[in-house]
Amino acid sequence: MLQKGAPIAEPKGKLGVLLVGMGAVTTTFIAGVEAIRRGLASPIGSLTQMGTIRLGKRTDGRSPLIKDFVPLAGLDDLVFGTWDIFDENCYEAAMHAGVLEKELLVQLKPQLSKVKPMPAVFDQEYVKRLSGTHLKKGRTKMSLAEQLMEEIAEFKKKNRCSRMVMVWCASTEVFIKPHPVHKNLAAFEKAMRENHKAIAPSMIYAYAALKSGVGFANGAPNLTVDIPALIELAEKQNLPICGKDFKTGQTLMKTIVAPGLKARMLGLHGWYSTNILGNRDGEVLDDPGSFKTKEESKLSVLEYILQPQIYPELYSDFSHLVRINYYPPRGDNKEGWDNIDIFGWLGYPMQIKIDFLCRDSILAAPIVLDLALFMDLAQRTGMRGIQEWLSFYFKSPMCAPKLYPEHDLFIQLMKLKNTLRHLRGEEMITHLGLEYYD
Ligand SMILES: NC(=O)c1ccc[n+]([C@@H]2O[C@H](COP(=O)([O-])OP(=O)(O)OC[C@H]3O[C@@H](n4cnc5c(N)ncnc54)[C@H](O)[C@@H]3O)[C@@H](O)[C@H]2O)c1
Repeated sequence: MLQKGAPIAEPKGKLGVLLVGMGAVTTTFIAGVEAIRRGLASPIGSLTQMGTIRLGKRTDGRSPLIKDFVPLAGLDDLVFGTWDIFDENCYEAAMHAGVLEKELLVQLKPQLSKVKPMPAVFDQEYVKRLSGTHLKKGRTKMSLAEQLMEEIAEFKKKNRCSRMVMVWCASTEVFIKPHPVHKNLAAFEKAMRENHKAIAPSMIYAYAALKSGVGFANGAPNLTVDIPALIELAEKQNLPICGKDFKTGQTLMKTIVAPGLKARMLGLHGWYSTNILGNRDGEVLDDPGSFKTKEESKLSVLEYILQPQIYPELYSDFSHLVRINYYPPRGDNKEGWDNIDIFGWLGYPMQIKIDFLCRDSILAAPIVLDLALFMDLAQRTGMRGIQEWLSFYFKSPMCAPKLYPEHDLFIQLMKLKNTLRHLRGEEMITHLGLEYYD
């Protein structure tokens, strides 16, 4: 177990942030960091940049910024490496994604144009709605992984990085179940050499990252590192992994509202969630295979938060439906509607309606930043394997096999902050507070 107050190596030198997929989320993240570096914008939505952490008693008045409390890489030390199946540079891809205003992107053009994607490892069987031209060729999946490892080493050398992290921001792959070849590293490597179909492209990137000494965070709901073989590799390499599926938009709202309903012992008859979304992510999710992966990730949240096995009278039979419709006119500006049928005192029914006109990538970009910085912190601290303390950022948090995932946003935040306190040798905050009345 990680020792309280264990030493943490200082974040000296450049941190390479390797991003798989250079679509709406990646370009909004990179352009955002460039804009913030130049003082053109603020890092709103980022806990690492704006969040504080209370230490000691409420009367002590100690609430430093998180970035002053734990040693995190500074934004000026980040360098970006990407892969995509299209060879547009980051400026062109950001223009194409249509999330940020053209005037801002034009100001950042010199920096963004320099970020050019490396050719992707891609298999259309895994993302049916896309076909790309900027692809790697290799006889086996292992040879594709080796090409990625060479590129990672080359990137590190060329950009003089002292550390690197990888974040999956590429399209959602079709739903797959764990297969016997995922059971351990030896079976997985054999399957890579034999081009087994159960090895998804995202697994090839994750394998290459971990073999190269780079921690991996999974922003999409794909299985990817959530298999025993890659958990084994992460532990063996002393590297952190985390996932899955950035918690933005509708699921963020769900994990804010549902804990409140449960806290007040209000019952639930049903929760109907629907979305219209017009970006490339929406187009990919229009395919039933990719949608199934997303649906599984979105559906599990309520069951775990509401605990019907403990509160059968309140939560045993609720209906939960999730729909995503691809509707091009909306672009990245998604609309998520929720109709929530609840019941209160004596069983009287009530309804809640939420209409969240959100911007998907605006919510996801600060998550990418925080994950890159916290994964780097974890690497420098020697935290290996699944990083459950980063559940805060995910719709479908990875956790130890014997545990159930924690979805309640407020428990997740407490866990994250308590982990930081533990790392720095500070006392946990229990909220008991009796000492103030002695
Ligand atoms: N709020 C959010 O935006 C949000 C929330 C949760 C999860 N996600 C997930 O994050 C991912 C990125 O979202 P986005 O809106 O940027 O999507 P996007 O479609 O704009 O970008 C994805 C990019 O990945 C590329 N790609 C696909 N397969 C690849 C491969 N094998 N290798 C390299 N590149 C590949 C595509 O060409 C595309 O440019 C999606 O899987 C999405 O489901 C996004």
